Amino acid sequence: MSSTATPSVKAIFESMEYGPAPESAELAQAWLMRHERSFGHFVGGRFVDPVDGERFATTHPGDGAELAQVAQGGAADVDAAVRAAQEALPAWQALTPFARSRHLYALARHVQKHARLLAVLEALDNGKTLRETRDIDIPLVARHFYHHAGWAQLRDSEFAGYEPVGVCGQIIPWNFPLLMLAWKVAPALAAGNTVVLKPAEFTPLTALAFAEMAAEAGLPEGVLNVVTGDGRTGAALVAHEGLAKVAFTGSTEVGRIIRQATAGRGLKLSLELGGKSPFIVFDDADLDSAVEGVVDAIWFNQGEVCCAGSRLLVQESVAAAVEEKLRARMETLREGPSLDKAMDIGAIIAPVQLDKITRLVEQCKAEGGRCYQPSWAQSVTRDGGLYFPPTLFSEVAPSSAAAQEEIFGPVIVSMTFRTPAEAVELANNTRYGLAASVWTENVNLALDVAPKLEAGVVWVNCTNVFDAASGFGGYRESGYGREGGREGMYEYLKPSWEARLEPYREAPSGVPDGAALGAGAPVGEEAIDRTAKLYIGGKQARPDGAYSYPVLGADGVHLGEAPLGNRKDVRNAVEAARKGTAWTKATAHNRAQVLYYLAENLDARAGEFGARLRAMTGARKADAEREVAASVQRLFTYAAHADKYDGAVHATPLRNVTLAMPEPWGVMAVVCPDEAPLLAFVSLVAPALAMGNRVVSVPSPRWPLAATDLYQVLDTSDLPAGALNIVTGDRDELAAVLAKHADVAAMWYVGSAEGSTAVERESADNLKATWVNFGDRRDWFDPEQGEGREYLRRATHVKNIWVPYGE
Ligand code: NAI
Ligand code: MG
Repeated sequence: MSSTATPSVKAIFESMEYGPAPESAELAQAWLMRHERSFGHFVGGRFVDPVDGERFATTHPGDGAELAQVAQGGAADVDAAVRAAQEALPAWQALTPFARSRHLYALARHVQKHARLLAVLEALDNGKTLRETRDIDIPLVARHFYHHAGWAQLRDSEFAGYEPVGVCGQIIPWNFPLLMLAWKVAPALAAGNTVVLKPAEFTPLTALAFAEMAAEAGLPEGVLNVVTGDGRTGAALVAHEGLAKVAFTGSTEVGRIIRQATAGRGLKLSLELGGKSPFIVFDDADLDSAVEGVVDAIWFNQGEVCCAGSRLLVQESVAAAVEEKLRARMETLREGPSLDKAMDIGAIIAPVQLDKITRLVEQCKAEGGRCYQPSWAQSVTRDGGLYFPPTLFSEVAPSSAAAQEEIFGPVIVSMTFRTPAEAVELANNTRYGLAASVWTENVNLALDVAPKLEAGVVWVNCTNVFDAASGFGGYRESGYGREGGREGMYEYLKPSWEARLEPYREAPSGVPDGAALGAGAPVGEEAIDRTAKLYIGGKQARPDGAYSYPVLGADGVHLGEAPLGNRKDVRNAVEAARKGTAWTKATAHNRAQVLYYLAENLDARAGEFGARLRAMTGARKADAEREVAASVQRLFTYAAHADKYDGAVHATPLRNVTLAMPEPWGVMAVVCPDEAPLLAFVSLVAPALAMGNRVVSVPSPRWPLAATDLYQVLDTSDLPAGALNIVTGDRDELAAVLAKHADVAAMWYVGSAEGSTAVERESADNLKATWVNFGDRRDWFDPEQGEGREYLRRATHVKNIWVPYGE
């Protein structure tokens, strides 16, 4: 009795065509109608009208239909939201960890209860497929809140000595709207903070729905606030003085703007930015699995994925086979309406994004790239929807725009390599470093290659898998900070000792005033020979400018001359550190031995160093001796840590082990304060070295001789050339050069508030990770402030390597 329009079972079996399999939009439409398709901001536990009343439409990219009007937040709206978050803070922090944990648990339950509404609403607002929102986004959101309900419960025991930061401003993109909310909100609340979140202008709806659910779940008013709007709203939030932390996911360009805008304000900052991640296929890989992997790497979420595997690197001998299989697979991909449950690829978020993809694809063609799209590719633009077909480029030069720029669409470029070394080199030939995927049946090869890839996540024989227990985040211009796991919790906590510090009473010095002291004049050969030197690449070196400055003792006595290092000296030191890879490659045991040796050699000359400290600082004999002894001890501490501060195996719920490995940054800059000139120097340099970094250091400008006296100790301690470089001179001048230097991956600065601001500002371009003191004074003798795991954590970043098992 079937109607004539419905094909018979026999006909279906013959053609095996997919019919439409639409999910009902009813739940989501009913929710929108209940709000009369118009939303204010969510502040203090309820929807509030925007102060200046401006609104804009959010649409469904699959047909262009308007879903609702949302508010364009201005400064007054942001201010109201930050105030609500500030007011909510004391009561939220007064709750027991158990009580906060119950709230996070309730949020997870509510996400599950409303999973269908959220999945449909997300598919509508973003244009992505329901298959993905239902099976990936929303389950991961629930998992994230469950996992962090656990961290909330365990905060005080697992993060003893740390405390919440305060009000967090969080800005998220449109590609995984609710998942990015979860990644931001769950750890913030678990740590005991309150939040103002700004969703992306294209996809504000699930954030608003979530905020409403949170209120329904009993989350106290003001703990989570949502202000909608575009980049201007984001900028207003970042500018607000009431924030203690900014967390951002989005473009590298906006990441830089936010680094600039937050410089010197004492904020914590985490940036999760763009990527151009390599997908490496070795010739012994299971090629069919690898091809399915490519589908997940670049056609998942239309390729609008920060960690998308957008550069396919295939070993030459299997390149033709992989391409053939891939072309065949592309033919069977289905692109179309989000709510059709049998679609693989949905709509592109907005015309501006479609234009960007089109522009880069045309450019790649013009540059000679060979473009392949499936035969059905022409027929995708329909019903006002924004679609781009899956696209494969081959014969692409590694330096071309298509191989370097983040396209953020369903476009993959492929290149070939011959040897594993060449694969690593090609993979790392990018400014980004978010993720990488490695395909081989040879576990030795996979685990040899993974640590060599400059990326925060490495997936072995899998790709685009995520879990709340594993950290996620970038190297290089992909940003810093981690989301998920224990690593991610630290982004929302601060050491309690840091919170207790007071500003310096006396401003930290630069080099003494040249005119008054007769410095800055060129000195003759003879005088230079009596002047301390720089220490670069394991050798003493004269400063480029051949200038020196006098070092005065406490009583004004002229103790000697120190070189006035300049820009060129810093560059030489960085170059030496860049080459000093032997130290990073050394085993942890070996690094420990060298640090012990250093400590012993310093101890053997304790008297001499004590006398030097007394002459410089005017310290009493006992105090100077105490500083030397504390320095020796500190070296012992970090020698001890060198082979003990290690990683973890995260319990991610797939059939895999996820290895969380703390890795050194590579080249680190360390800029030291005046006080305790030996102990502060050792306290800052030793943890960086212990973790395998090569260091460019600037010792106290006022009393640099404690550091320059170390040269002989260094020479006799088997420290490889380039591991530690010392440039004396003006702290803030040298710090600015180091902050701007693209080859310095991380930088610590302890000095003035102005110097701290400059370091954060000058690092915006190259996005190095910085740790500055904002002009606060540490007590280097206090082991809580002067040493410990925070230093080791800041001397490393964590790479998560996913290794599946089972046949
Ligand atoms: P975007 O970086 O402009 O937007 C991300 C978020 O930042 C949005 O909520 C936006 O309103 C906000 N924002 C924009 N300007 C801001 C400012 N000055 N201060 C504070 N917040 C601001 O990214 P957009 O324009 O949506 O996409 C542009 C490109 O960025 C994409 O083509 C893609 O290549 C990349 N992108 C990368 C993402 C990632 O996850 N890594 C996510 C989204 C985009
Ligand atoms: Mg939308």
